[in-house]
Amino acid sequence: MKRSLLDYTLRIRIPIVIFIAVATFATTYFVSRAERDGVGYAPAQPIAFSHKLHAGTMRIDCQYCHTGASASAHATVPPVATCMNCHTVARKNQPEIIKLTKYYEEGTALPWKRIHRVPDYAYFNHSVHVNKGIDCAHCHGQVENMDVVQQVSQFTMGACLDCHRNAHAKMPELKNIKKGPENCAACHR
Ligand code: HEC
Ligand code: HEC
Ligand code: HEC
Ligand code: HEC
Ligand code: HEC
Repeated sequence: MKRSLLDYTLRIRIPIVIFIAVATFATTYFVSRAERDGVGYAPAQPIAFSHKLHAGTMRIDCQYCHTGASASAHATVPPVATCMNCHTVARKNQPEIIKLTKYYEEGTALPWKRIHRVPDYAYFNHSVHVNKGIDCAHCHGQVENMDVVQQVSQFTMGACLDCHRNAHAKMPELKNIKKGPENCAACHR
């Protein structure tokens, strides 16, 4: 009696428990991958602003709007006032621009959904990359072809280090850059 119970546990129950544990882990791992890495994340925004139209067709410079990119850690998203440089006139009778104007007149910031983010315990700085000539596209893809911005590359520690180690191979157009740092304290201050 005792022997067959042990046998049953060893041959049937343990394998089943292990199988369920592995299957659950694997499913959760794959299902949550986009959310964890952020790749593919493209939330709907409060105003249907198109980069393809503004940065692509109209060729407005990225830093006309993202003024922080070469000056600080954060690239920053422009205030409504930047949009109103043009939209007090351009398309002012279109529904989306009427909505935009309302935010401007009420003095409320647009609740844009944040797309890219590294955790607070890691230090990232735009200006140290952008001022070395590293193009936005190396990290953000071809934003000028996107109607809705989405994250295209991983911002995991592995991804940062992959570029830091292979900076010259990845960006042969930049002759005067150093490799990026690999010591922990550079990114965990
Ligand atoms: C006319 C102003 C304007 C221009 C020009 C512009 N952007 Fe933006 N950008 C915005 C606004 C507004 C948002 C927030 C709404 C959104 O995500 O679409 C944004 C969002 C982004 C984001 C996502 C930010 C986040 O939440 O993580 C990236 C990346 C970005 N822009 C890169 C670029 C690049 C690269 C260029 C040039 C090729 C560019 N932008 C040109 C206004 C602009
Ligand atoms: C340099 C001038 C300029 C700036 C700055 C600018 N826009 Fe525009 N935008 C235009 C022009 C011109 C059009 C119309 C282009 C066309 O349809 O040919 C347009 C079109 C649009 C449309 C589509 C309107 C429609 O026809 O339904 C939206 C929405 C919009 N802009 C939002 C924004 C937002 C939000 C910002 C600020 C983050 C912004 N724009 C900044 C010039 C600008
Ligand atoms: C070396 C990689 C890299 C380059 C180059 C880069 N970015 Fe980013 N970008 C990031 C990372 C990482 C984040 C998330 C930062 C965070 O959470 O603090 C981010 C976030 C952003 C954001 C939203 C948050 C913020 O910092 O305001 C915008 C907007 C943005 N980038 C625009 C740009 C533009 C425009 C350029 C080119 C002028 C550019 N980025 C170049 C990696 C890069
Ligand atoms: C080039 C920048 C960079 C360097 C250098 C770096 N890290 Fe990180 N690290 C990050 C970023 C970004 C994250 C957050 C994203 C993630 O979780 O992958 C992170 C996350 C972590 C985490 C959280 C756990 C995890 O993997 O999610 C630990 C622990 C860590 N780093 C330890 C270290 C140690 C130890 C070193 C030195 C051997 C180091 N890091 C060097 C950028 C860096
Ligand atoms: C596309 C390549 C690329 C990616 C991706 C990248 N970096 Fe870098 N980073 C560089 C290069 C190249 C340098 C060194 C530039 C120089 O000094 O010439 C650098 C420098 C740095 C520095 C040193 C700044 C200083 O004060 O000297 C930090 C910190 C840093 N990166 C953090 C990060 C983090 C965190 C990530 C990921 C979220 C990241 N980087 C992703 C290429 C990259």
